[in-house]
Amino acid sequence: MNTSIFLKTLNEEISQQNYGENPVELYEPIRYIMSLGGKRLRPLMTILSTALFTDDWQKAVKPAIAVEIFHNFTLMHDDIMDKAPLRRGKPTVHEKWNENIAILSGDVMLVQAYELLLFVEDAKFKKALKRFNRTAAEVCEGQQLDMNFEKRESVSEEEYLEMIKLKTSVLVGFAMELGGIIAGADDNSCELLYQFGINIGLGFQLKDDLLDVYGDPDKFGKQVGGDIIANKKTFLLIEALEKASGETRETLNYWLSLETFEASLKVKAVTEIYDQLGIKKITEDKINAYFNIGFESLKSLDIEESRKAALIEFTEMLIDREV
Ligand code: IPE
Ligand code: IPE
Ligand code: MG
Ligand code: MG
Ligand code: MG
Repeated sequence: MNTSIFLKTLNEEISQQNYGENPVELYEPIRYIMSLGGKRLRPLMTILSTALFTDDWQKAVKPAIAVEIFHNFTLMHDDIMDKAPLRRGKPTVHEKWNENIAILSGDVMLVQAYELLLFVEDAKFKKALKRFNRTAAEVCEGQQLDMNFEKRESVSEEEYLEMIKLKTSVLVGFAMELGGIIAGADDNSCELLYQFGINIGLGFQLKDDLLDVYGDPDKFGKQVGGDIIANKKTFLLIEALEKASGETRETLNYWLSLETFEASLKVKAVTEIYDQLGIKKITEDKINAYFNIGFESLKSLDIEESRKAALIEFTEMLIDREV
């Protein structure tokens, strides 16, 4: 099956969603953020996952949209927390409207995600709901750790990996697992799908950290340098703190300690330190390593190789993505 058919079906279905009308301030931001597109990575993975087992992938479409609405809800709130001005090349909801609107619109999106999850057939619904709930709580845990780490002087690589596993990977893992649940796959297969998603999710968030520094502002769609401005303990910063010594270390600490600064100067200075220390290459190697671990889980899945081709091709594109 062809991934572009899945994407077309998904986007058609998303555009037909009735999110609600009144008050308009509650529902308009939902239409706004959902219409800005994005990669639709997670719902595509749900459909691709179902399609590993059955040609009846259509039954995964509405539950897949539940995952995408949940993801967009987390973005709406994340952008408040990260003080982000841009999302998918457009002003963020809290910038275009205000923070209270972004909070409440986000809240009702979570409810709508549950509504769409109801399209999982009865026999499988309870498992899907249980896994969804666990995932949603873990995303919140990861987001809180991410905020806590901004204020901490040092964060270990291990702590960082646990944090991104929670804030990002578990949802990618769930997206894959949900596809398996819908297809009626056995528990062992669902676990392999989840592990695949977890590792792809880790590589994906590392790539997001990398693009936040090295992305092309015209393509990335988000503010480049946002993580540096906020002292986010990204993989790049953790590596730099580990490798920097002498004057470089002092300069890095100086920028991290400033309460007020000119954003563009800080971004430039910290990026130069990353350049000096070869952080880009180290991050790229780590990204590749996680994608490879993911592909190993997929190899263990007892399914004809030809059925895996679309998922493998789609996942490979994520390694070199620029958006
Ligand atoms: C952004 O997710 C948040 C992260 C977990 C890095 P995506 O990069 O999937 O965002 P969209 O949906 O394509 O815009
Ligand atoms: C976001 O991580 C993870 C969630 C939204 C749960 P980021 O804060 O790095 O995502 P972007 O870069 O704003 O998309
Ligand atoms: Mg964030
Ligand atoms: Mg963010
Ligand atoms: Mg980011």
